[in-house]
Amino acid sequence: MTSNTVSQLLKETKLQKVDIKGWVRTFRANRFIALNDGSTINNIQCVVDFENTNEAILKRITTGAAVHIKGELVESQGKGQNVEVIVNSITILGDSDPETYPIQPKKHSFEFLRENAHLRTRTNTFSAIMRLRSSLSFAVHKYFNENGFYYMHTPIITGSDAEGAGEMFRVSTLDQKNPPLNENGDVDHSQNFFGKDTNLTVSGQLEAETYAMSLGKVYTFGPTFRAENSNTSRHLSEFWMIEPEVAFMDLAGNMDLAENFMKSVISYILENNIDDLEFLNKRLLDEEKTKPQAERSDLNLIEKLKFVTENNFKRVSYTEAIDILRQSKPNKKKKFKYIIEEWGADLQSEHERFLVEKHFKCPVILFDYPANIKAFYMRLNEDEKTVRAMDILFPGIGEIVGGSQREERLDVLKKKMAVLDIPEEELWWYLDLRKYGTAVHSGFGLGFERLVMFATGMGNIRDVIPYPRTPQNAEF
Ligand code: 4AD
Ligand code: MG
Repeated sequence: MTSNTVSQLLKETKLQKVDIKGWVRTFRANRFIALNDGSTINNIQCVVDFENTNEAILKRITTGAAVHIKGELVESQGKGQNVEVIVNSITILGDSDPETYPIQPKKHSFEFLRENAHLRTRTNTFSAIMRLRSSLSFAVHKYFNENGFYYMHTPIITGSDAEGAGEMFRVSTLDQKNPPLNENGDVDHSQNFFGKDTNLTVSGQLEAETYAMSLGKVYTFGPTFRAENSNTSRHLSEFWMIEPEVAFMDLAGNMDLAENFMKSVISYILENNIDDLEFLNKRLLDEEKTKPQAERSDLNLIEKLKFVTENNFKRVSYTEAIDILRQSKPNKKKKFKYIIEEWGADLQSEHERFLVEKHFKCPVILFDYPANIKAFYMRLNEDEKTVRAMDILFPGIGEIVGGSQREERLDVLKKKMAVLDIPEEELWWYLDLRKYGTAVHSGFGLGFERLVMFATGMGNIRDVIPYPRTPQNAEF
Protein backbone atom coordinates (compact mmCIF):
# COMPACT_ATOMS: atom_id res chain seq x y z
CA MET A 1 0.00 0.00 0.00
CA THR A 2 1.34 3.42 -0.89
CA SER A 3 1.42 6.13 1.77
CA ASN A 4 -1.28 8.75 2.09
CA THR A 5 -0.65 12.45 2.51
CA VAL A 6 -2.39 14.52 5.15
CA SER A 7 -3.58 16.93 2.48
CA GLN A 8 -5.30 14.13 0.59
CA LEU A 9 -6.83 12.48 3.66
CA LEU A 10 -8.35 15.70 4.96
CA LYS A 11 -10.31 15.99 1.72
CA GLU A 12 -11.54 12.37 1.83
CA THR A 13 -15.16 11.51 2.46
CA LYS A 14 -14.65 7.76 1.97
CA LEU A 15 -13.72 5.91 5.15
CA GLN A 16 -10.68 3.72 4.50
CA LYS A 17 -7.48 2.13 5.73
CA VAL A 18 -4.59 4.62 5.89
CA ASP A 19 -0.83 4.48 5.99
CA ILE A 20 0.78 7.73 6.86
CA LYS A 21 4.17 9.16 7.83
CA GLY A 22 4.84 12.55 9.36
CA TRP A 23 6.05 14.53 12.36
CA VAL A 24 4.23 14.90 15.65
CA ARG A 25 3.21 18.49 16.25
CA THR A 26 1.57 17.81 19.62
CA PHE A 27 0.50 14.81 21.67
CA ARG A 28 -2.35 15.51 24.04
CA ALA A 29 -3.86 13.43 26.86
CA ASN A 30 -1.78 10.39 25.88
CA ARG A 31 -4.31 9.98 23.13
CA PHE A 32 -4.44 12.67 20.40
CA ILE A 33 -1.55 13.15 17.97
CA ALA A 34 -1.64 16.22 15.72
CA LEU A 35 0.36 14.91 12.76
CA ASN A 36 1.82 17.00 9.95
CA ASP A 37 3.71 15.86 6.86
CA GLY A 38 4.26 19.18 5.10
CA SER A 39 1.61 18.58 2.45
CA THR A 40 -0.75 21.13 4.03
CA ILE A 41 -0.89 23.67 6.82
CA ASN A 42 -3.47 21.45 8.53
CA ASN A 43 -2.68 18.56 10.84
CA ILE A 44 -4.54 15.32 10.90
CA GLN A 45 -5.68 14.08 14.29
CA CYS A 46 -4.59 10.51 15.01
CA VAL A 47 -6.23 8.85 18.01
CA VAL A 48 -4.10 6.36 19.94
CA ASP A 49 -5.68 3.57 21.97
CA PHE A 50 -3.44 4.23 24.94
CA GLU A 51 -4.72 1.31 27.00
CA ASN A 52 -3.49 -1.12 24.39
CA THR A 53 -0.30 0.67 23.42
CA ASN A 54 3.05 -0.12 24.96
CA GLU A 55 3.95 2.55 27.51
CA ALA A 56 7.49 2.84 26.18
CA ILE A 57 6.09 3.72 22.76
CA LEU A 58 3.66 6.28 24.24
CA LYS A 59 6.63 8.03 25.87
CA ARG A 60 8.37 8.32 22.53
CA ILE A 61 5.45 10.13 20.86
CA THR A 62 6.84 13.60 21.47
CA THR A 63 6.70 16.88 19.59
CA GLY A 64 9.06 16.64 16.61
CA ALA A 65 9.26 12.84 16.44
CA ALA A 66 8.86 11.17 13.03
CA VAL A 67 6.24 8.43 13.08
CA HIS A 68 4.63 5.87 10.80
CA ILE A 69 0.96 5.26 11.50
CA LYS A 70 -1.34 2.62 10.12
CA GLY A 71 -4.97 2.88 10.93
CA GLU A 72 -8.44 3.78 9.83
CA LEU A 73 -9.89 7.03 8.58
CA VAL A 74 -13.17 7.68 10.35
CA GLU A 75 -15.57 10.52 10.87
CA SER A 76 -14.29 12.57 13.75
CA GLN A 77 -16.01 12.30 17.09
CA GLY A 78 -14.67 15.62 18.28
CA LYS A 79 -14.92 19.19 17.07
CA GLY A 80 -12.41 20.92 14.80
CA GLN A 81 -12.04 18.29 12.09
CA ASN A 82 -14.27 16.21 9.83
CA VAL A 83 -12.12 13.10 9.79
CA GLU A 84 -9.52 11.56 12.04
CA VAL A 85 -7.38 8.45 12.10
CA ILE A 86 -7.91 5.63 14.55
CA VAL A 87 -4.39 4.31 15.10
CA ASN A 88 -3.95 0.54 14.76
CA SER A 89 -0.17 0.58 14.80
CA ILE A 90 2.45 3.24 15.33
CA THR A 91 6.17 3.00 14.65
CA ILE A 92 8.59 5.64 15.87
CA LEU A 93 10.85 6.36 12.88
CA GLY A 94 12.92 9.01 14.62
CA ASP A 95 12.80 10.14 18.24
CA SER A 96 12.85 13.79 19.21
CA ASP A 97 14.16 14.75 22.64
CA PRO A 98 11.44 16.94 24.14
CA GLU A 99 13.98 18.60 26.46
CA THR A 100 16.12 20.01 23.67
CA TYR A 101 13.86 20.18 20.57
CA PRO A 102 13.85 23.91 19.71
CA ILE A 103 10.43 24.03 18.04
CA GLN A 104 8.13 23.68 21.03
CA PRO A 105 4.37 24.00 20.51
CA LYS A 106 4.28 27.67 21.52
CA LYS A 107 4.91 31.06 19.94
CA HIS A 108 8.55 31.63 18.96
CA SER A 109 10.07 34.93 17.87
CA PHE A 110 11.16 35.26 14.24
CA GLU A 111 14.69 36.02 15.47
CA PHE A 112 14.81 32.72 17.35
CA LEU A 113 13.46 30.87 14.33
CA ARG A 114 16.07 32.48 12.05
CA GLU A 115 18.73 30.97 14.29
CA ASN A 116 16.97 27.65 13.81
CA ALA A 117 16.28 28.08 10.11
CA HIS A 118 16.92 24.37 9.52
CA LEU A 119 13.88 23.54 11.67
CA ARG A 120 11.67 26.59 11.21
CA THR A 121 9.65 25.02 8.40
CA ARG A 122 8.28 22.68 11.10
CA THR A 123 6.14 25.65 12.19
CA ASN A 124 2.86 26.61 10.56
CA THR A 125 4.03 30.08 9.60
CA PHE A 126 7.23 28.99 7.83
CA SER A 127 5.76 25.96 6.15
CA ALA A 128 3.00 28.21 4.76
CA ILE A 129 5.54 30.78 3.54
CA MET A 130 7.71 28.19 1.82
CA ARG A 131 4.76 26.44 0.17
CA LEU A 132 3.67 29.85 -1.13
CA ARG A 133 7.20 30.57 -2.33
CA SER A 134 7.19 27.31 -4.26
CA SER A 135 3.77 28.05 -5.77
CA LEU A 136 4.72 31.56 -6.80
CA SER A 137 7.82 30.22 -8.45
CA PHE A 138 5.74 27.73 -10.42
CA ALA A 139 3.27 30.51 -11.34
CA VAL A 140 6.16 32.56 -12.74
CA HIS A 141 7.23 29.77 -15.10
CA LYS A 142 3.61 29.03 -15.98
CA TYR A 143 2.90 32.64 -16.92
CA PHE A 144 5.91 32.97 -19.20
CA ASN A 145 5.42 29.55 -20.71
CA GLU A 146 1.79 30.34 -21.57
CA ASN A 147 2.78 33.67 -23.06
CA GLY A 148 5.43 32.52 -25.52
CA PHE A 149 8.59 33.27 -23.51
CA TYR A 150 11.67 31.05 -23.49
CA TYR A 151 13.42 30.34 -20.20
CA MET A 152 17.08 31.27 -20.42
CA HIS A 153 19.82 30.36 -17.96
CA THR A 154 22.06 33.41 -17.76
CA PRO A 155 25.55 32.92 -16.33
CA ILE A 156 26.19 33.31 -12.63
CA ILE A 157 29.88 34.13 -13.06
CA THR A 158 30.40 37.19 -15.23
CA GLY A 159 32.96 39.82 -16.10
CA SER A 160 30.51 42.71 -16.31
CA ASP A 161 28.77 44.91 -13.78
CA ALA A 162 25.36 45.32 -15.40
CA GLU A 163 24.03 47.83 -12.92
CA GLY A 164 27.29 49.78 -12.69
CA ALA A 165 26.96 50.04 -8.95
CA GLY A 166 30.21 48.18 -8.23
CA GLU A 167 28.64 46.05 -5.53
CA MET A 168 29.97 42.70 -6.61
CA PHE A 169 31.40 39.57 -5.02
CA ARG A 170 34.71 38.71 -6.67
CA VAL A 171 35.27 35.17 -7.95
CA SER A 172 38.96 34.36 -7.72
CA THR A 173 41.33 31.45 -7.24
CA LEU A 174 44.40 33.64 -6.72
CA ASP A 175 46.41 33.27 -3.53
CA GLN A 176 44.78 35.87 -1.31
CA LYS A 177 47.85 36.45 0.83
CA ASN A 178 50.25 36.76 -2.03
CA PRO A 179 48.49 37.51 -5.34
CA PRO A 180 50.57 37.94 -8.52
CA LEU A 181 51.05 41.61 -9.42
CA ASN A 182 51.51 43.30 -12.82
CA GLU A 183 54.01 46.09 -13.65
CA ASN A 184 51.67 48.69 -12.15
CA GLY A 185 51.54 46.84 -8.85
CA ASP A 186 47.89 45.81 -9.39
CA VAL A 187 46.64 42.25 -9.00
CA ASP A 188 47.35 40.41 -12.25
CA HIS A 189 44.03 38.84 -13.16
CA SER A 190 45.45 37.36 -16.37
CA GLN A 191 46.80 34.69 -14.02
CA ASN A 192 43.41 34.21 -12.39
CA PHE A 193 41.22 31.19 -13.12
CA PHE A 194 39.29 32.78 -15.99
CA GLY A 195 42.20 34.90 -17.18
CA LYS A 196 40.32 38.00 -16.12
CA ASP A 197 38.63 39.61 -13.16
CA THR A 198 35.23 38.00 -12.62
CA ASN A 199 32.37 38.27 -10.14
CA LEU A 200 28.99 36.85 -9.23
CA THR A 201 26.26 38.38 -11.35
CA VAL A 202 24.18 41.34 -10.14
CA SER A 203 21.68 40.83 -12.97
CA GLY A 204 21.15 38.54 -15.96
CA GLN A 205 19.78 41.39 -18.03
CA LEU A 206 22.62 42.08 -20.44
CA GLU A 207 22.86 38.43 -21.45
CA ALA A 208 19.05 38.19 -21.60
CA GLU A 209 19.07 41.09 -24.07
CA THR A 210 21.24 39.07 -26.44
CA TYR A 211 18.68 36.26 -26.49
CA ALA A 212 15.69 38.60 -26.77
CA MET A 213 17.33 39.89 -29.95
CA SER A 214 17.05 36.46 -31.52
CA LEU A 215 14.40 34.46 -29.68
CA GLY A 216 12.08 37.46 -29.25
CA LYS A 217 10.71 36.89 -25.75
CA VAL A 218 12.87 35.42 -22.99
CA TYR A 219 13.15 35.46 -19.22
CA THR A 220 15.66 34.49 -16.60
CA PHE A 221 14.84 33.44 -13.06
CA GLY A 222 17.97 32.85 -11.06
CA PRO A 223 20.16 33.74 -8.13
CA THR A 224 21.56 37.26 -8.03
CA PHE A 225 24.30 38.61 -5.79
CA ARG A 226 24.89 42.07 -4.41
CA ALA A 227 27.64 43.02 -2.01
CA GLU A 228 25.90 46.19 -0.89
CA ASN A 229 26.22 46.74 2.83
CA SER A 230 22.51 47.34 3.41
CA ASN A 231 21.27 45.71 6.56
CA THR A 232 17.59 46.40 5.94
CA SER A 233 14.46 44.30 6.07
CA ARG A 234 14.27 44.42 2.25
CA HIS A 235 17.82 43.58 1.13
CA LEU A 236 19.60 40.26 0.74
CA SER A 237 23.13 39.65 -0.51
CA GLU A 238 21.84 36.63 -2.43
CA PHE A 239 18.35 36.87 -3.85
CA TRP A 240 16.39 35.54 -6.80
CA MET A 241 15.43 37.78 -9.67
CA ILE A 242 12.97 37.30 -12.50
CA GLU A 243 14.00 39.20 -15.62
CA PRO A 244 11.93 39.09 -18.79
CA GLU A 245 13.31 40.77 -21.91
CA VAL A 246 11.28 41.38 -25.06
CA ALA A 247 12.25 42.54 -28.57
CA PHE A 248 10.16 45.21 -30.29
CA MET A 249 8.51 46.23 -27.01
CA ASP A 250 8.59 49.81 -25.75
CA LEU A 251 8.25 51.18 -22.22
CA ALA A 252 4.44 51.27 -22.30
CA GLY A 253 4.41 47.61 -23.36
CA ASN A 254 6.89 46.84 -20.57
CA MET A 255 4.57 48.38 -17.96
CA ASP A 256 1.62 46.40 -19.35
CA LEU A 257 3.65 43.18 -19.22
CA ALA A 258 4.84 43.76 -15.65
CA GLU A 259 1.36 44.61 -14.39
CA ASN A 260 -0.27 41.70 -16.16
CA PHE A 261 2.42 39.30 -14.95
CA MET A 262 2.18 40.36 -11.31
CA LYS A 263 -1.61 40.11 -11.34
CA SER A 264 -1.35 36.64 -12.84
CA VAL A 265 1.05 35.18 -10.26
CA ILE A 266 -0.90 36.67 -7.36
CA SER A 267 -4.17 35.30 -8.78
CA TYR A 268 -2.50 31.90 -9.00
CA ILE A 269 -1.86 31.69 -5.26
CA LEU A 270 -5.32 33.04 -4.43
CA GLU A 271 -6.70 30.12 -6.44
CA ASN A 272 -4.27 27.44 -5.32
CA ASN A 273 -2.97 28.25 -1.84
CA ILE A 274 -5.94 29.59 0.04
CA ASP A 275 -5.35 27.46 3.19
CA ASP A 276 -1.86 28.88 3.63
CA LEU A 277 -3.03 32.41 2.85
CA GLU A 278 -5.87 32.17 5.34
CA PHE A 279 -3.47 31.00 8.02
CA LEU A 280 -1.09 33.92 7.36
CA ASN A 281 -4.05 36.29 7.16
CA LYS A 282 -5.14 35.25 10.63
CA ARG A 283 -1.60 35.52 11.96
CA LEU A 284 -1.40 39.09 10.69
CA LEU A 285 -4.82 40.02 12.08
CA ASP A 286 -3.69 38.81 15.52
CA GLU A 287 -0.50 40.84 15.17
CA GLU A 288 -2.51 43.92 14.10
CA LYS A 289 -4.62 43.70 17.25
CA THR A 290 -1.54 44.46 19.31
CA LYS A 291 -0.97 47.73 17.41
CA PRO A 292 -2.63 51.08 18.11
CA GLN A 293 -5.73 51.71 15.96
CA ALA A 294 -4.03 54.38 13.83
CA GLU A 295 -1.29 51.99 12.70
CA ARG A 296 -3.60 49.19 11.67
CA SER A 297 -4.04 48.67 7.96
CA ASP A 298 -7.40 49.07 6.21
CA LEU A 299 -7.12 45.83 4.26
CA ASN A 300 -6.19 42.38 5.48
CA LEU A 301 -3.67 40.24 3.59
CA ILE A 302 -6.14 38.50 1.30
CA GLU A 303 -7.94 41.77 0.58
CA LYS A 304 -4.58 43.35 -0.29
CA LEU A 305 -3.79 40.57 -2.75
CA LYS A 306 -7.24 40.85 -4.33
CA PHE A 307 -6.87 44.60 -4.50
CA VAL A 308 -3.74 44.19 -6.61
CA THR A 309 -5.37 41.71 -8.98
CA GLU A 310 -8.52 43.81 -9.41
CA ASN A 311 -7.22 47.38 -9.71
CA ASN A 312 -5.06 49.15 -12.25
CA PHE A 313 -1.61 50.21 -11.12
CA LYS A 314 -1.34 53.99 -11.11
CA ARG A 315 1.18 55.25 -13.71
CA VAL A 316 2.92 58.44 -12.70
CA SER A 317 5.96 60.20 -14.19
CA TYR A 318 8.95 60.90 -11.97
CA THR A 319 8.35 64.63 -12.54
CA GLU A 320 4.76 64.40 -11.27
CA ALA A 321 5.93 62.33 -8.31
CA ILE A 322 8.51 64.96 -7.35
CA ASP A 323 5.81 67.65 -7.42
CA ILE A 324 3.58 65.56 -5.17
CA LEU A 325 6.43 64.86 -2.77
CA ARG A 326 7.53 68.50 -2.65
CA GLN A 327 4.00 69.56 -1.73
CA SER A 328 3.56 66.74 0.79
CA LYS A 329 3.15 67.29 4.53
CA PRO A 330 6.15 65.18 5.62
CA ASN A 331 8.35 67.13 3.20
CA LYS A 332 7.11 70.54 4.33
CA LYS A 333 7.28 69.57 7.98
CA LYS A 334 10.73 68.04 7.45
CA LYS A 335 9.51 64.63 8.60
CA PHE A 336 11.36 62.87 5.77
CA LYS A 337 14.94 61.97 6.52
CA TYR A 338 15.84 63.14 3.01
CA ILE A 339 13.95 66.33 2.13
CA ILE A 340 13.02 66.59 -1.54
CA GLU A 341 14.40 69.94 -2.67
CA GLU A 342 14.40 69.74 -6.42
CA TRP A 343 13.91 67.75 -9.60
CA GLY A 344 16.71 65.21 -10.00
CA ALA A 345 16.69 63.90 -6.44
CA ASP A 346 16.93 60.13 -6.07
CA LEU A 347 13.86 58.70 -4.34
CA GLN A 348 14.46 56.96 -1.02
CA SER A 349 12.21 54.22 0.27
CA GLU A 350 10.46 56.70 2.62
CA HIS A 351 9.35 58.69 -0.47
CA GLU A 352 8.30 55.60 -2.39
CA ARG A 353 6.25 54.39 0.53
CA PHE A 354 4.63 57.77 1.01
CA LEU A 355 3.48 57.75 -2.63
CA VAL A 356 2.11 54.22 -2.46
CA GLU A 357 0.74 54.02 1.07
CA LYS A 358 -0.38 57.57 1.84
CA HIS A 359 -0.94 59.37 -1.44
CA PHE A 360 -2.15 56.93 -4.11
CA LYS A 361 -3.02 53.99 -1.84
CA CYS A 362 -2.43 51.50 -4.66
CA PRO A 363 0.52 50.01 -6.57
CA VAL A 364 2.29 52.75 -8.52
CA ILE A 365 4.47 52.64 -11.63
CA LEU A 366 6.89 55.55 -11.74
CA PHE A 367 8.46 56.22 -15.14
CA ASP A 368 10.78 58.60 -17.01
CA TYR A 369 13.43 59.08 -14.33
CA PRO A 370 16.35 61.50 -14.57
CA ALA A 371 19.09 59.87 -16.66
CA ASN A 372 21.83 60.43 -14.12
CA ILE A 373 20.25 58.42 -11.30
CA LYS A 374 19.70 55.34 -13.50
CA ALA A 375 21.86 52.67 -15.17
CA PHE A 376 23.79 53.24 -18.42
CA TYR A 377 21.65 51.01 -20.65
CA MET A 378 18.36 52.90 -20.39
CA ARG A 379 16.83 54.59 -23.45
CA LEU A 380 17.37 58.34 -23.43
CA ASN A 381 14.21 60.38 -24.02
CA GLU A 382 13.95 63.22 -26.53
CA ASP A 383 14.29 65.75 -23.68
CA GLU A 384 17.84 64.33 -23.21
CA LYS A 385 17.31 64.61 -19.46
CA THR A 386 15.19 61.59 -18.67
CA VAL A 387 15.35 57.90 -19.52
CA ARG A 388 12.60 55.39 -20.23
CA ALA A 389 12.88 53.71 -16.86
CA MET A 390 10.08 52.37 -14.73
CA ASP A 391 9.94 51.24 -11.11
CA ILE A 392 6.93 49.53 -9.60
CA LEU A 393 6.23 50.43 -5.99
CA PHE A 394 4.11 48.22 -3.75
CA PRO A 395 2.48 48.99 -0.41
CA GLY A 396 4.55 47.78 2.53
CA ILE A 397 7.48 46.98 0.24
CA GLY A 398 8.45 50.03 -1.80
CA GLU A 399 10.34 49.15 -5.00
CA ILE A 400 9.47 45.66 -6.16
CA VAL A 401 10.28 45.96 -9.89
CA GLY A 402 12.90 47.96 -11.78
CA GLY A 403 12.95 48.01 -15.56
CA SER A 404 13.35 50.06 -18.70
CA GLN A 405 13.31 50.35 -22.44
CA ARG A 406 16.93 49.78 -23.50
CA GLU A 407 19.11 52.18 -25.46
CA GLU A 408 19.13 50.61 -28.93
CA ARG A 409 21.12 53.37 -30.69
CA LEU A 410 24.82 52.53 -30.96
CA ASP A 411 26.12 56.11 -30.97
CA VAL A 412 24.03 57.21 -27.99
CA LEU A 413 24.98 54.10 -26.01
CA LYS A 414 28.69 54.55 -26.73
CA LYS A 415 28.53 58.17 -25.65
CA LYS A 416 26.85 57.21 -22.40
CA MET A 417 29.41 54.49 -21.68
CA ALA A 418 32.24 56.95 -22.33
CA VAL A 419 30.78 59.44 -19.86
CA LEU A 420 30.49 56.71 -17.21
CA ASP A 421 33.93 55.26 -17.97
CA ILE A 422 32.58 51.87 -18.99
CA PRO A 423 35.20 50.32 -21.29
CA GLU A 424 33.85 49.31 -24.72
CA GLU A 425 36.18 46.26 -24.78
CA GLU A 426 34.30 44.78 -21.84
CA LEU A 427 30.91 45.06 -23.48
CA TRP A 428 31.83 44.57 -27.14
CA TRP A 429 29.20 41.86 -27.46
CA TYR A 430 26.55 44.13 -25.96
CA LEU A 431 27.45 46.82 -28.46
CA ASP A 432 27.26 44.26 -31.30
CA LEU A 433 23.53 43.96 -30.64
CA ARG A 434 23.26 47.62 -31.63
CA LYS A 435 25.33 47.06 -34.77
CA TYR A 436 23.54 44.04 -36.15
CA GLY A 437 19.78 44.27 -36.41
CA THR A 438 19.19 46.60 -33.50
CA ALA A 439 15.59 47.27 -32.44
CA VAL A 440 13.53 48.72 -29.65
CA HIS A 441 13.46 46.30 -26.71
CA SER A 442 12.57 46.35 -23.03
CA GLY A 443 12.52 44.33 -19.87
CA PHE A 444 12.39 44.46 -16.12
CA GLY A 445 13.60 42.74 -12.97
CA LEU A 446 11.32 41.59 -10.19
CA GLY A 447 12.92 40.77 -6.87
CA PHE A 448 11.35 37.40 -6.11
CA GLU A 449 11.71 37.68 -2.32
CA ARG A 450 10.00 41.06 -2.34
CA LEU A 451 7.10 39.42 -4.15
CA VAL A 452 7.03 36.63 -1.55
CA MET A 453 7.07 39.26 1.21
CA PHE A 454 4.06 40.96 -0.31
CA ALA A 455 2.22 37.68 -0.86
CA THR A 456 2.77 36.43 2.68
CA GLY A 457 2.59 39.74 4.55
CA MET A 458 5.99 39.09 6.12
CA GLY A 459 7.88 42.19 7.19
CA ASN A 460 11.45 40.91 6.92
CA ILE A 461 12.99 39.54 3.73
CA ARG A 462 15.10 37.11 5.81
CA ASP A 463 11.91 35.20 6.58
CA VAL A 464 10.88 34.46 2.99
CA ILE A 465 14.05 32.75 1.71
CA PRO A 466 15.22 29.42 3.20
CA TYR A 467 18.73 30.48 4.19
CA PRO A 468 19.23 34.24 4.02
CA ARG A 469 22.63 35.66 3.15
CA THR A 470 23.17 39.13 4.56
CA PRO A 471 26.23 41.09 5.69
CA GLN A 472 27.99 39.11 8.46
CA ASN A 473 25.65 36.16 8.04
CA ALA A 474 25.93 33.01 5.95
CA GLU A 475 24.95 30.28 8.42
CA PHE A 476 23.64 26.95 7.09
O1 4AD B 1 16.28 47.68 -9.86
P1 4AD B 1 17.28 46.59 -10.07
O2 4AD B 1 18.67 46.83 -9.60
O3 4AD B 1 17.25 46.30 -11.63
C1 4AD B 1 18.06 45.45 -12.32
O4 4AD B 1 18.87 44.71 -11.84
C2 4AD B 1 17.76 45.40 -13.80
N1 4AD B 1 18.90 44.80 -14.48
C3 4AD B 1 16.50 44.62 -14.04
C4 4AD B 1 16.12 44.53 -15.48
O5 4AD B 1 15.72 45.53 -16.06
N2 4AD B 1 16.22 43.36 -16.09
O6 4AD B 1 16.76 45.26 -9.39
C5 4AD B 1 15.49 44.72 -9.75
C6 4AD B 1 14.72 44.29 -8.53
C7 4AD B 1 14.43 45.42 -7.54
O7 4AD B 1 13.30 46.16 -7.93
C8 4AD B 1 14.18 44.63 -6.26
O8 4AD B 1 12.87 44.09 -6.23
C9 4AD B 1 15.15 43.48 -6.40
O9 4AD B 1 15.47 43.35 -7.77
N3 4AD B 1 16.37 43.71 -5.62
C10 4AD B 1 16.66 43.12 -4.45
N4 4AD B 1 15.96 42.22 -3.73
C11 4AD B 1 16.52 41.79 -2.58
N5 4AD B 1 17.73 42.19 -2.12
C12 4AD B 1 18.47 43.08 -2.83
N6 4AD B 1 19.68 43.45 -2.39
C13 4AD B 1 17.93 43.59 -4.05
N7 4AD B 1 18.38 44.45 -4.99
C14 4AD B 1 17.42 44.51 -5.93
MG1 MG C 1 16.08 49.50 -8.94
